[in-house]
Amino acid sequence: MKSCTQNTEDGKKVFIQTYGCQMNEYDTDKMFEVLRQENYFHTDSQEDADLIILNTCSIREKAEHKVYSELGRLRNLKSANPELKIGVGGCVAQQEGEAILRRDANVDFVFGTDNLFELPRMLRKVHNGEKITQTGRHDRQKVRNFIPEYAFQQISKSGIKAHLTITKGCNNHCSFCVVPLTRGLEVSREPEHIVAEAEKLVSTGTREICLLGQNVNSYKANGVDFVELLNRLDKIDGLQRLRFTSPHPKDFHEKLADAIASLPSLCEHLHLPLQSGSNRILRRMRRWYTIDTFYEKVAMLRDRLPKAAISTDLIVGFPGETDEEFEMTMEAVRNVGFDLIYSFKYSPRPGTRATEYPEHISESIKSERLRILLETQEKIVQEKYQVLVGTEQEVLIEGNHHRKANTVTGRTRGNHPVSIHNSTEKAGELLSVLITRANPNSLEAEPSSAISFAGI
Ligand code: SAH
Ligand code: SF4
Ligand code: F3S
Repeated sequence: MKSCTQNTEDGKKVFIQTYGCQMNEYDTDKMFEVLRQENYFHTDSQEDADLIILNTCSIREKAEHKVYSELGRLRNLKSANPELKIGVGGCVAQQEGEAILRRDANVDFVFGTDNLFELPRMLRKVHNGEKITQTGRHDRQKVRNFIPEYAFQQISKSGIKAHLTITKGCNNHCSFCVVPLTRGLEVSREPEHIVAEAEKLVSTGTREICLLGQNVNSYKANGVDFVELLNRLDKIDGLQRLRFTSPHPKDFHEKLADAIASLPSLCEHLHLPLQSGSNRILRRMRRWYTIDTFYEKVAMLRDRLPKAAISTDLIVGFPGETDEEFEMTMEAVRNVGFDLIYSFKYSPRPGTRATEYPEHISESIKSERLRILLETQEKIVQEKYQVLVGTEQEVLIEGNHHRKANTVTGRTRGNHPVSIHNSTEKAGELLSVLITRANPNSLEAEPSSAISFAGI
């Protein structure tokens, strides 16, 4: 949704580098919208930019390091063009605040995760030569309303797929996680604003919306809970597909499983972050479920939708994790048969409880555990993909294949990436296809002649 790419003759140019999760991508889109009001236009080139913003992530140490090395690289640009303004936003900015200004003299302003709507005011001060740090939290009501004058009026043309943030922050305090510190406590946006934003997206070309929140199923505002919100969004004409990420396993209940099974737009895919297969580690992570209750929830979903795709997040090398406990994670991976795993080496984050736990695991053991996990998962994905060969799937077309002629790409309702040969179908169309081949990380298909389509 790079809505700022237009006639740039009178305006200034902004380059935004986004790190981290979809929530940051969503915030970057909002920054573009806000900046367009100030006559800033999007550019893909840092060299061309009058303003560079780094929208940062601090989920793991590596993500934070990336920001400082990028700032190092920007030094040359700033010395070549002293008029260039550099801002740092997002989760590192929220946590580090003014320290970033002290660490790098080239940074002009730092702003937190609640402050992106204050960009115009900050920029005016920056252009007067001030250095700014703005990391204060909005009051609850303001976040809830998400400053409606900006929230959804500026979208001129959106992509086929869009993200939509429904809750900000998190109340869970998992012992490894920095997010409650960077995004604050959980606040749910008003359902009316969410529905209006979704309608606006659909009216400008979006066909698939992914709702974002750290724990979407704890959504509650104006007496509307998450399932009721899904019901309201499902009714929007022209919205073909609805997804969400992530529900916390402890809060994944029957009502939500029923909604996934019954609402037509809701895709048969669930991201259910397990983190570990060991109950002792789960307790120390403060996740508040056991491996058995996790299995029960998977069974509950599969009971309603036997072929639903399930993805997860896993952490290896949490403090104190023994070989046996890592093996329990591997057992869970084999038992559930996830369609996709995001796996991470535990990374200590400032201000989180787990940094104080004893028995931190060495880097080499973490790397070895990650290697074993990835190797096993690769085989599981191959088997999963193989099962799809010969089946009919509904694909939402996202565009032409970047290399192959007469080939388009898209995703199944289970979120598997597919290349479709012998098709010139336009982006945004739904196409029924026959899966012909499984590659290590994607599927190949041909358009199927059947018009009626039964789903996965
Ligand atoms: N709210 C989501 C997670 C958001 S963070 C949830 O609860 O599922 C995305 C993933 O990053 C987490 O699921 C976890 O697997 C990983 N992660 C978070 N903090 C981490 C850390 N300190 N080290 C390694 N991985 C981490
Ligand atoms: Fe972090 Fe846990 Fe909240 Fe997810 S639920 S954002 S892992 S604290
Ligand atoms: Fe990173 Fe912040 Fe998202 S820490 S993962 S950008 S919520």
